[in-house]
Amino acid sequence: MRTRVGAVPFTVVSHLLAIAAAFMVLVWCIHFRGGLAFESTNKSLIFNIHPVLMLIGFIILGGEAIISYKAIPLSKEVKKVIHLTLHFIALILGIVGIYAAFKFHNESSIANLYSLHSWLGIGVICLYGIQWIFGFLMFFYPSGVAAIRVQSLPWHVLFGLFVYILALATAILGFMEKLTFLETGGLAKYGTEAFLVNFTAIITILFGGFIVLTAVSPAPVEDDFSYSRI
Ligand code: HEM
Ligand code: HEM
Repeated sequence: MRTRVGAVPFTVVSHLLAIAAAFMVLVWCIHFRGGLAFESTNKSLIFNIHPVLMLIGFIILGGEAIISYKAIPLSKEVKKVIHLTLHFIALILGIVGIYAAFKFHNESSIANLYSLHSWLGIGVICLYGIQWIFGFLMFFYPSGVAAIRVQSLPWHVLFGLFVYILALATAILGFMEKLTFLETGGLAKYGTEAFLVNFTAIITILFGGFIVLTAVSPAPVEDDFSYSRI
């Protein structure tokens, strides 16, 4: 049933959780881990770019892109541009974030791609790129014929949510990897820092949950959100 407010309350909670998660990952990487740098003799600073860009750049911006259709009271055409632009920025920041993890490994003589986290990470970023290209070609330019667009939209939504949930799971594995894997500077499992990392992961899960909840909830009644106008 569509109500006057629809999914809007969920979008508000999502924004608040996004601010909390972004703040927590920055406090962790800057206050506890010494800051961020692309070039440094202290290689940990290069690594720190990875969680910050993956969480704020990829997960949070990607989530905001998904809920843009429900969160912003603008025309469908404008929302479409916001949706695809935010997803594009998320994709680019995700690629830069992964590059930082490789750079850290290479400059610290640590092997690449040995963990489940890293395998899923490569899968997620590739699927996200494919989803973006298909979305762009089908719904924006040159755009498929109306009948195929309508038929493919539910698949776009389903696959988009699948990739997004996989990205969330990958990020959670990443937090765990950092807490437990000593070769890459694993943290002590007890104490304030470990507490902060665990809570950042919990807030990330809640954020992702509200993004999915928003996507599956009906748009507000006054919106022009309908499959006939894709
Ligand atoms: C969806 C988001 C994420 C993706 C797609 C992703 C992807 C990747 C990839 C592809 C690597 C391999 C780099 C290499 O082999 O040189 C990696 C490494 C790593 N990532 Fe992430 N990451 C994400 C989020 C996070 C987060 C939030 C953390 C939290 C600290 C994290 C921690 C790590 C650690 C510790 C490594 C080095 C160990 C390893 O290769 O498993 N990642 N990540
Ligand atoms: C990796 C990139 C992308 C992901 C993960 C993604 C994901 C999603 C999701 C989950 C929804 C459902 C939102 C909701 O029901 O509230 C959606 C809707 C939509 N997306 Fe994407 N999307 C991506 C890229 C694109 C691109 C590049 C376009 C091109 C314009 C696009 C066009 C659309 C359209 C037209 C809708 C339908 C909105 C409606 O039902 O009115 N998407 N997308």
